[in-house]
Amino acid sequence: MRVLVTEPQPGKGIDLLKSRYDVTVGERGEYDREERLKEVIGSYHALLCCLSTPVTSDILKAGNKLRIVSNYAVGYNNVDVETAKEMGILVANTPDVLTEATADCAFALLLSVARRIREAEDSLRAGEFDGWHPFGFLGTELSGKTAGIYGMGRIGRAFARRAHGFGMKILYNNLKRLEPEDETKYYARWADSLDELVHESDVVSLHCPLTPETRHAINKKRLAKMRQNAILINTARGPIVDEAALAQTLHENRIGGAGLDVFELEPKVHPDLLTAPNCVLLPHIASATRETRARMSALAASSIISHLEGKPDHAIPTLVYQRKT
Ligand code: DGY
Repeated sequence: MRVLVTEPQPGKGIDLLKSRYDVTVGERGEYDREERLKEVIGSYHALLCCLSTPVTSDILKAGNKLRIVSNYAVGYNNVDVETAKEMGILVANTPDVLTEATADCAFALLLSVARRIREAEDSLRAGEFDGWHPFGFLGTELSGKTAGIYGMGRIGRAFARRAHGFGMKILYNNLKRLEPEDETKYYARWADSLDELVHESDVVSLHCPLTPETRHAINKKRLAKMRQNAILINTARGPIVDEAALAQTLHENRIGGAGLDVFELEPKVHPDLLTAPNCVLLPHIASATRETRARMSALAASSIISHLEGKPDHAIPTLVYQRKT
């Protein structure tokens, strides 16, 4: 069996695959180009790819032998799941293993924006520190404030635990309301709509998947409903936020700030965000801890092994479509 791994990754997943299959490992970014992937996909039984790999309908159709696409990410908006489903190709992702790392990063962004860490450090490095003074880089305290969580899945809940630990109140909106015992467990109050959530929160943190329904969920209209000092955090997917509208809102000082790890057209960043005040921007690193990336690698590889060897492990794939023929 032949496996294509689109690019090198930390962890033991590739070695695990090499011990069983004929494995090709591409170069960094090589298969981010659809034409390049299309040229070769026909000879592989399994694809281990990244969130930057466009696994389109054309790619899946060119994958005559393809039985599984294992995405080295929890988000799988880069994969045409509907076509995979029609073709009986299994799609797997890497849930659970990156929950804590991603929630840590979302909280790191929140603390950085709330306490103006980036601006303050830039100022010190520029030689501007002239001693303590009463007005120096006044920020916002988190304790007692409301964290509005949009998407209360694994990562949203992990963010809620952190926010509760910092003395924040938790408001949430999700596709489905949590069971009462989970609302109690996470000290979480249900908001009937995203409009209500953005209006009543001091912090809005996005933890939903990117779907046609969530694309530009944070748009001009909703940004206008946010509180004057509110902070927006996005570690989910860039296109959930209308970046141009956010940049304008920040430039007009209509909200307190934003912390973003993801962007609409990665790796491009909207130029007006780069110059926006109190905006912390990271290069999509929320899951980037050594421990998490190693677990993602093992999980992505074991999804392939268990599928190709016909030993389904129910702990692994989240989206299972068996090839019909
Ligand atoms: C994911 O897994 O979806 C993250 O965005 C990658 O770190």
